[in-house]
Amino acid sequence: MTAPLKHSADITVDVALGDRAYDIVIGRGVLETLGARVAALRPGVRTAIVTDRTVAKHWLEPTERSLAGAGIPTSRIIVEEGEISKTYAGLEKVSEALIAAKIERNDLVIALGGGVVGDLAGFAAAILRRGVDFVQAPTSLLAQVDSSVGGKTGINSPQGKNLLGAFHQPLLVIADTSVLDTLSPRQFRAGYAEVAKYGVLGDEAFFAWLDANHADIFSGGAAREHAIATSCRAKAAIVCRDERENGERALLNLGHTFGHALEAATGFSDRLFHGEGVAIGMVLAAEFSAQLGMISAADAARVERHLASVGLPTHLQDIAGFTQEGLADADALMALMAQDKKVKRGKLTFILLQAIGRAVVANDVEPALVRDFLQQKLSG
Ligand code: GLY
Repeated sequence: MTAPLKHSADITVDVALGDRAYDIVIGRGVLETLGARVAALRPGVRTAIVTDRTVAKHWLEPTERSLAGAGIPTSRIIVEEGEISKTYAGLEKVSEALIAAKIERNDLVIALGGGVVGDLAGFAAAILRRGVDFVQAPTSLLAQVDSSVGGKTGINSPQGKNLLGAFHQPLLVIADTSVLDTLSPRQFRAGYAEVAKYGVLGDEAFFAWLDANHADIFSGGAAREHAIATSCRAKAAIVCRDERENGERALLNLGHTFGHALEAATGFSDRLFHGEGVAIGMVLAAEFSAQLGMISAADAARVERHLASVGLPTHLQDIAGFTQEGLADADALMALMAQDKKVKRGKLTFILLQAIGRAVVANDVEPALVRDFLQQKLSG
């Protein structure tokens, strides 16, 4: 599809999980409708909005206005921006504040922010009074296409990312695409890596469409809503078939085994955003697949070219401070991968490619092969 798209009415994607089914509402300005939607879903509810300082500056007041307009009482809980809040201390702060705000079983937590806020607030909701419902109002591209959908919530342990958490599906996802206008170009690009991921893992036609339309997505044209909706549909379909990640859902981890190790090696700092790690990880997964003879080198190069064309890092050497300890060392990267949730009895789980649009879960990858491959990439 290459014809220009027009901004259209809001798009609703259904996550068909039976009695826990919910809508993802996508469109410019849909945050304004939050209050009316919450009032319709939960008459008489109280809410607590969990957000971070930066998001609060732009979007807390409009969110509160929308809820107040529907007669819904709200309180606000503001956390520090970034992974520093996805910790035991961050969870304690949010949980205690929710109890102090008298959020009860039939009330609602509203996660207004990016992936960190969604994961943290969702996990706090999952354990508060043994579980209260929550609404996701994602404000980053990454959260709109990935972390706000599918019910994964949690915090990090000092020993690894997302090691503590719960599956807890939201009641509603409100993805207002106009909020993305305040993201930095780098943050937007990092989120775009997760959009491209859906094409690479399961939809070659979408990948080709992204190749033709990425400029419109970046400039805020109607292709943006189409890309977000297509990503959410792809994720919803997978989550509905495999909510608890017993099989197919693992495909969504394409690029993440390498990516998480790179994030850990850079101290989960601004040197590498999550989506940037995923971009490099996807290229490594494609190249590793090519080395194993699963896809052609030309297809692996096509994945790399697309991500590079939007300005994403695609090589280990693109990471700031690449030569620092831990990054330019295949053994150190292997040790970090061994701590990931994707390790089972010494064998690594990787998502590999049989083609662009056809990813597979490989549960028994020999660590020695991965180490040799990384060594090659590091010296290249
Ligand atoms: N972000 C991967 C998943 O939700 O399964």
